Amino acid sequence: MVNDTETAHQAWDETWKSENGRAIWLDPEEDVRDLVGKLKAADTVKALDLGCGVGRHAVYLASQGFETYALDGSETGIEHARQQTEKAGLEIDFRVGMMTDLPFDDAMFDYVLAFNVIYHGDPKTVGKAISEIRRILKAGGTYQGTMLSKRNDHFGKGEEIEKDTFIYDHDGTGDEAHPHFYCNARELVELFDGFELQKLLDVDHSHRRPEHWHWHLVAERLA
Ligand SMILES: C[S@@+](CC[C@H](N)C(=O)[O-])C[C@H]1O[C@@H](n2cnc3c(N)ncnc32)[C@H](O)[C@@H]1O
Repeated sequence: MVNDTETAHQAWDETWKSENGRAIWLDPEEDVRDLVGKLKAADTVKALDLGCGVGRHAVYLASQGFETYALDGSETGIEHARQQTEKAGLEIDFRVGMMTDLPFDDAMFDYVLAFNVIYHGDPKTVGKAISEIRRILKAGGTYQGTMLSKRNDHFGKGEEIEKDTFIYDHDGTGDEAHPHFYCNARELVELFDGFELQKLLDVDHSHRRPEHWHWHLVAERLA
């Protein structure tokens, strides 16, 4: 663990224990489906779903023929993802682990996906997660992920524990009791040093909460 801001997986572990908690995290995102179609045409083989939760994207990737790996800090999430995989008659290599210390070889993956994952922490944690993603991606490989946008209505609210890092609900028990990092487009481009952005869009995840803006990005790992 890089430092004590890398804690949100503990709240997610609780969320994944209830059917209610899992209910809105079961269908793959349209963005992911769209890109996966293109990646298939480009012969992408090895894929990692980083912070896989209960496995909606990992299972989708495996069903599309990718050699799929999935990692999460939540053992409960991994357990549910494993069950879904077995039910679907698919194979996925699952690991319980942290995004800042990935148990994978350098340049191992053609595609890494981290949907709503790597902004859980302070700038140091987020930077370490990005450098780990860069390390395990092949040159020319594709990263797809999200970051919290400064347009998000929770930006600037609660306690600022580090630059642009807020704990919205200190006394709560959910994800918002843990640090979240926010950035604007310029800061995002700086963070993804060593990548060439192919797509960057600020998207309101209003199906979860109004004004819940997230950057959606697709980037190529440079040589
Ligand atoms: C919002 S959920 C998203 C799950 C999944 N990516 C999806 O789109 O369905 C965030 C996930 O990231 C995991 N997570 C948060 N911080 C992590 C860390 N430092 N290392 C590994 N996993 C982490 C949580 O346990 C949780 O499963």
